[in-house]
Amino acid sequence: KFDGLAMTPPMGWNSWNKFACNVDENLIKQVADAIVATGMKDAGYTYINIDDCWHGERDSLGFIHPDPKRFPSGMKALADYIHSKGLKMGVYSDAGSQTCGGRPGSRGYEFQDAQMYAKWGVDYLKYDWCNTEGLKAEGAYKTITAALRKAGRPMVLSICEWGNDKPWIWGPTVGHSWRTTGDIFNCFDCVEDHGSWKSWGVMQILDKQEGLRQYAGPGHWNDPDMLEVGNGMPEHQDRAHFTMWSMIAAPLIAGNDLRKMSKETIGILTNKEVIAVNQDKLGIQGFKYAAKDSVETWLKPLENDKWAVVFLNRGKAAKPVEFDWQKTPITDDFAKRELNAAKTTYKLRNVWIKKDAGTTKKAFKATIPKQDVVMLLLSK
Ligand code: GLA
Repeated sequence: KFDGLAMTPPMGWNSWNKFACNVDENLIKQVADAIVATGMKDAGYTYINIDDCWHGERDSLGFIHPDPKRFPSGMKALADYIHSKGLKMGVYSDAGSQTCGGRPGSRGYEFQDAQMYAKWGVDYLKYDWCNTEGLKAEGAYKTITAALRKAGRPMVLSICEWGNDKPWIWGPTVGHSWRTTGDIFNCFDCVEDHGSWKSWGVMQILDKQEGLRQYAGPGHWNDPDMLEVGNGMPEHQDRAHFTMWSMIAAPLIAGNDLRKMSKETIGILTNKEVIAVNQDKLGIQGFKYAAKDSVETWLKPLENDKWAVVFLNRGKAAKPVEFDWQKTPITDDFAKRELNAAKTTYKLRNVWIKKDAGTTKKAFKATIPKQDVVMLLLSK
């Protein structure tokens, strides 16, 4: 897979987290308008992805069509509209007989579906894993990869297999990202029990990324699921969520109603310095360096010998941190990089408050508010 797509983590929007099955062409067009008007497009968000439930029925030849009530103008017209704004369009399907929402799945129709998506002008496919009895994940995803290639239009393939069959092992040559977990739930620190399945809070998903960083890189990313920023968590939790997704080089796929955002939400989603950490060209996923009480220290090596450093306070009380760079040389064996302030002095930038913060000659001291972060950028 050397198609040059997703060389940095994909950025865009997806309908599922906020709208679930309530999708139609007016919503999608309004979101495309909003992603431009709010400055999100300028900040790098490109893909407008329609998740489950856009589907209508297959015709007598087996070709899929959108739900005629929800998408009366058809998918080609919608893709044209999205492309006219300089954006790209994504759709959703499933490797099984039906999608998770009970719409027609692609099983047995992979080549026809890929052909149809290419005809419409689709740029991104999220491919889910419901109703796949008897299928093996790697093989099923390879089938859709082959079908997309045959269809001849470059499309990002987002593998949505929830991490059960270790997609990080086989995914890098099959798709551009793979879900590492079940679904995210709109809360900071909780597990939501749905009976037969569970969904996971932001901290729970973060913990499940342990041990996966070596599988990610340009063109192939771990996907800890889409963002819940702007869907109701308080600002400090949204900020921590967005920061950590940036640190772990996650796809930044907004999942809120872009037509009605507070200025705080826009401020988080469009923070260019944070996005730059996520979009760094090296594509090295960050790692947890230390954990003490409720505070974790995370690092991400960046281009030009820069580093991003985050203090994440997971707890419900503010915590002081002190970090003595001089006494704390850090070696990242995977990235073959060293942060050694005794040898090199770095300037510090406090990213969220947009202020310079001295150098690594002095220990860094701060109080991290509850369930929040302080993010530093270190540069020579
Ligand atoms: C699964 C996926 C979700 C979403 C829904 C749609 O749960 O993991 O991200 O696509 O299906 O039904």
